[in-house]
Amino acid sequence: MRHLMSPLDFTTSELDKLFDLASEIEKNPKKFSNTCNGKILATCFYEPSTRTRLSFESAMYHLGGNVLGFSDAASSSASKGESVSDTIRMISCYADICAIRHPKEGAPVVASNKSSIPVINAGDGGHQHPTQTLTDLLTIRSMKGRLENFTIGLCGDLKFGRTVHSLINALIRYPGIQFIFISPEELKIPDYIREDVLDKNKISYKEFVRLEDCMEDLDLLYMTRVQRERFFNEEEYIRLKDFYILDKNKMALAKEDMLVLHPLPRVNEISVEVDDDPRAVYFKQVQYGVYVRMALILTLLELI
Ligand code: NCD
Repeated sequence: MRHLMSPLDFTTSELDKLFDLASEIEKNPKKFSNTCNGKILATCFYEPSTRTRLSFESAMYHLGGNVLGFSDAASSSASKGESVSDTIRMISCYADICAIRHPKEGAPVVASNKSSIPVINAGDGGHQHPTQTLTDLLTIRSMKGRLENFTIGLCGDLKFGRTVHSLINALIRYPGIQFIFISPEELKIPDYIREDVLDKNKISYKEFVRLEDCMEDLDLLYMTRVQRERFFNEEEYIRLKDFYILDKNKMALAKEDMLVLHPLPRVNEISVEVDDDPRAVYFKQVQYGVYVRMALILTLLELI
C-alpha cells in the first residue's frame, strides 16, 4: 500500500506515468467515470480549504466514487481531544482512501503510520503540499510541453508557503531548472530548504527583492499569497501583504510566452486586470488539479 506524503514519494518516471494518465483523463473523462464505483474517499480537513478539498471531492465524484469527511477540526472529534492516529484508524473502517490536511507539520505522516488505507497529504502546516505540486507540474508539462530547461521565478511568501517548498523539492530532479526567488527580506526561503535541498544538491539560485529586476528572464512566474495564518504578528502581515502586486505594467516586462501560475487563493498579489492575459493560467491550473487528483486516486487504489 502506498501513501503520498511528499512529491518525492514518486520517482520522476512514476510521475510521468501519473501525468500521462491525467492527460488521458483530460482527453476522455467519460472513459473513467465509473472506475471508482463503490469506493469512498474520506476528506479529513483540520484546516480551512475550499480548493483542495473540493478538488478531491470533484475528482472522486468524476470517477464514480463517493465522499465523506469533515472540513474543520471544530466539527470533528479532534475538538473532543481525539488524536490523529485514532481518527485515521476509525476512518480506515469507513473509507478506501483518505486525504488529510492539518496545521501541524508531519501530522499526515503520523496518520499514514497507523492507517490501513492510502493516505494523501493535502497540506501540513508550512511544510508540504504534494498534490498542489502535482497540479503545478501537470500544468507546466501540459502548457509548456516539458518539465526541464526553464527559469522559474517564485514570488511572495517563500518562508511560510508550503506550495513553494513542495515545488522546489520536486523541480530539483529535472535538468536545467534555474530558480529565481523573489521575496521581501522577511519572507525569504527557509534555511532548511536552502541547505538541505538546494545546497546539498548543488542547485544554484538567484534572489531578488523587486519583481521588475528579473521579470524579463522568467519562463514561469509562480505567485503566492502572504500566508496570514502563519504570522505571529498581525502588524508584520499588514506591512508585507501588498508587497507584490502583479499588474499589466509588470506583465509588459515579461516574455511573450511566460506563464503565470498561482496555487490560489489570490488576495491582492495579482491584479484582476491580469486575468485576461493569455499568459495567466492560474484558473486552468485548478482544472488540472482535478485531473491529477483523479489520476492519483486511481493510482493509489491500484485501479489502473
Ligand atoms: C495553498 C495552500 O493551502 O497552501 N492553497 C491551495 O491548496 N491551493 C496556497 C495558499 O493557501 O496560499
